[in-house]
Amino acid sequence: MKIKEGELMPRSEDLTVAGRLRTQWAELTMPVLRSIKERFEKEKPLRELKIGACLHVTTETANLMKTLLAGGAEVALCGSNPLSTKDDVVAHLINDYGMRVYAKYGESNEEYYDHINKVLDINPNITLDDGADLISTIHSKRTDLIGQIYGGVEETTTGVIRLKNMAKDGALRYPIIAANDAQTKYLFDNRYGTGQNTMDGIMRATNALIAGKNFVVAGYGWCGRGVAARADGLGANVIITEVDPIKAIEATMDGYRVMPMKEAAAIGDIFVTVTGDIHAISLEHMLLMKDGAIMANSGHFDVEIDVKALENAAKSNKKVREHVEEYLLPNDRRVYLLAGGRLVGQTAAEAHPAAIMDMSFSNQALSVEYLFNNRSKLDNIVYSVPVEIDKQIAMMKLESMDIKIDTLTEEQKMYLSSWNIGT
Ligand SMILES: NC(=O)c1ccc[n+]([C@@H]2O[C@H](COP(=O)([O-])OP(=O)(O)OC[C@H]3O[C@@H](n4cnc5c(N)ncnc54)[C@H](O)[C@@H]3O)[C@@H](O)[C@H]2O)c1
Repeated sequence: MKIKEGELMPRSEDLTVAGRLRTQWAELTMPVLRSIKERFEKEKPLRELKIGACLHVTTETANLMKTLLAGGAEVALCGSNPLSTKDDVVAHLINDYGMRVYAKYGESNEEYYDHINKVLDINPNITLDDGADLISTIHSKRTDLIGQIYGGVEETTTGVIRLKNMAKDGALRYPIIAANDAQTKYLFDNRYGTGQNTMDGIMRATNALIAGKNFVVAGYGWCGRGVAARADGLGANVIITEVDPIKAIEATMDGYRVMPMKEAAAIGDIFVTVTGDIHAISLEHMLLMKDGAIMANSGHFDVEIDVKALENAAKSNKKVREHVEEYLLPNDRRVYLLAGGRLVGQTAAEAHPAAIMDMSFSNQALSVEYLFNNRSKLDNIVYSVPVEIDKQIAMMKLESMDIKIDTLTEEQKMYLSSWNIGT
């Protein structure tokens, strides 16, 4: 279905009610974003700002959108992944808020880019991305928009890598804030969020028992650490594959076995890729796998498992459960691919818990305000979230959890800023 002008998305009352209730449920565990929204409602700091957003269309994103609307901005939203859109959230935002939302679950590639272009048609001053697709489209096909754009915010590691590469080549034409690089983002979202949602996606899709399985995690970055810890907690024997020697030592000392994928492929029962890299699992690896091996990806793009090579080589394939495709390999072994090789937690489960997105999206909301207020001072490079914002979000989160911490005494401040006291 192609979405026409004036007929944005399904308007079924049932979907709208479901989306409204689920979004309110998420808001209950997003106290930091809620308090930013309350301030935005009073101060309207985003008045006259047009924001184009390309994010996973989930209940947590709906709460971010409401926060930006409360700040006085005009907002248009499309999905950053064709399989992560929750249609009830789309219906809720359109019908209850009159927002422009261009997304639907399972949209085709053509529709995906059509929706990106519809968002860009509002002529945004600020872009919000999860994977840099809005920014790439603007820089390649919609360069006419660049003059009016103050800046953009990027949510994920893969997007930030792409944008830093653009800045290095002098190709980036407006300033970016990397929400991903805030400590209140990657330490929690990438680690605990991805850790939990990956296991949730695998278990919902397969109902597989994790205990006692050889569970292979490709990549021991922030996401990989989280996935490994949660698989370990469920009783799996965790195996890590890495290309970075330091991460490999860390994984070893965290108690996991480390080996090349060629060795892991032969003994693994369940495989998860979280590398941000291409073909961490190749056809060569799949041909080494045991009959019944399960593969899932939690890295941003669907390139980490070589699905194309698998499709070309397989004798046959069939859907055996929702989000589970069985492939019969030339060696007559069966392997199972979850969620088509796309983000398994976003596709087969509900993405990050709201309590995690509370901090990630508070970084987004405050970064938008910062970009707007500092629009004349920033260069066309990738900035980290200002440390004051990062600390402020951490303090607000602690307060919401009713956790208090110590503060430095004057004596301690002096000691920590000196080089000759107490040595
Ligand atoms: N699923 C989610 O909800 C979610 C959340 C946040 C980030 N992400 C995405 O997950 C991916 C990883 O993010 P991160 O923050 O952990 O990144 P990171 O840079 O911290 O970690 C990636 C790790 O993968 C390793 N690696 C790279 N190529 C490899 C290969 N071929 N084989 C084995 N290891 C390899 C790197 O050495 C690094 O240690 C990115 O694509 C990111 O955008 C997903």
